[in-house]
Amino acid sequence: MMFDGSTVLVIDDSFETTELLSDCLTMNACHVLKADTGNKALQILRQNEIDVAVVDINLPDMNGISLLDPIKTHDPTIAIVMITGYPEPNFVVDAMKKGASDFLVKPFDLDKLLIVMMRVMREREILREKKDILDKLEDKKKIEMLNRQLQKKIEELSTMFHISNSLNGLSIAEDVYEKMLQLVREVLNPRSCAFYLAGHDSQELILVLEHKDNGTKPHERRLVLSDEFVPKSGLSMTYLTRNGTVFLPLIIKDQRVGYIAVEGRKGKGVFPSDDLFLLKLVAEKAAIKIENKMLYESLYNSILDTLSSLIIAIDRRDSYTKGHCERVAEMCLQLGERMNISEYERSVLGIVSPIHDLGKIGIADEVLLKPGSLTNKEYEVMKGHAAMGEEIMKRFEILAEEAKIIRHHHERFDGKGYPDQLAAAAIPLCSRIIAVCDAYDAMTSDRPYRKALSLGEAMEEIKRGSGKQFDPPVAEAFMSVMASGARPE
Ligand SMILES: [Fe+2]
Repeated sequence: MMFDGSTVLVIDDSFETTELLSDCLTMNACHVLKADTGNKALQILRQNEIDVAVVDINLPDMNGISLLDPIKTHDPTIAIVMITGYPEPNFVVDAMKKGASDFLVKPFDLDKLLIVMMRVMREREILREKKDILDKLEDKKKIEMLNRQLQKKIEELSTMFHISNSLNGLSIAEDVYEKMLQLVREVLNPRSCAFYLAGHDSQELILVLEHKDNGTKPHERRLVLSDEFVPKSGLSMTYLTRNGTVFLPLIIKDQRVGYIAVEGRKGKGVFPSDDLFLLKLVAEKAAIKIENKMLYESLYNSILDTLSSLIIAIDRRDSYTKGHCERVAEMCLQLGERMNISEYERSVLGIVSPIHDLGKIGIADEVLLKPGSLTNKEYEVMKGHAAMGEEIMKRFEILAEEAKIIRHHHERFDGKGYPDQLAAAAIPLCSRIIAVCDAYDAMTSDRPYRKALSLGEAMEEIKRGSGKQFDPPVAEAFMSVMASGARPE
């Protein structure tokens, strides 16, 4: 049985939802408690030890989100799953901030429910372990506090990412505008249709895309909303008309970001209200997709921002790494170009190379900042940074490939590296590229216990290490990059 003995509190006033959840969870060995109002839920919470709370956003006596604070205050390790009919981004972010771990979007299937439950149960375990440790170490040093805050930010972002990634039918590669016009054509069969973006003042419209039959005259590239546009309203919306063309606004976050322009259906002069209804539907669906896409992209950027702020935090602690990561990153990109690696590998390398030593955030000051050479025991601790870097990255589902590369950046071609003693092609190509650039930069930097090698000496070392520490083709390409003089200062 999957969740032996865990207690789940289901808070929902819908009888069907509660029964469905209850049956499925009971079958998987959970103990299920039910509440159909927020107040009943709070009462049950006070009298029972709860592992997971499943909370509907709409309760008869309160908003589901307002339950999150009292639950987390009662026991911060309770994992919370929200149920919602439509995951509106503001609400998602709000619930995340208040400690929700995951979302179920109605109607949900039972497989999805079980996956979510497994994930949050694991999270509950981690939270409890973390709480135990924190209780014991309450007065520990400030740096640990900093690490915890960063860690928390990572958890928050990764969960937000998880949510946005699971939103139904989200596809980042898809051109939403193009798809929207295709739909308009399929559904309405108009003479022509186009999409205009609204300028800053929303008065000027700029043509982005158009679909039209041969012989139909092209759309104007720019339009100014003026008296020629006749505002009309119907079906609880406002639209504009101009010379028989309907302009329906595309509204995202209360802003008119653009207009779909549709010229009447073939063979019909006017625009029937059925068609208007369908057009509105397409615009609404497209707006949801675009909004999701925006949420996804902004999350992706915040993930990358968070990772680079971690590097800055390491730089502050360890002056040696200052600049090291940037130099390695630059060399890696040049090397990748010389080796003609694929576009995809190039983008992965661009993300990973500046943060390959991310895991050092978890290494204690005594080891990371030790001025002399390390004892065997300390070296073992230091080696942990590769796996720790992977751990941090793995939290972002989108960065799974990058996480693997970070784990293996200290493997050796002959299989004598760490952490997994992988050899040759078993080591990801990007890790092999980072290994050479990382070693070269380390050799040519001054350390407290030894002077930097000259460039010639370092090149000699790379050559000697080819086939042992380094992948021969990578080492060879590196030497040819260096020989051509393209070298970061
Ligand atoms: Fe490293």
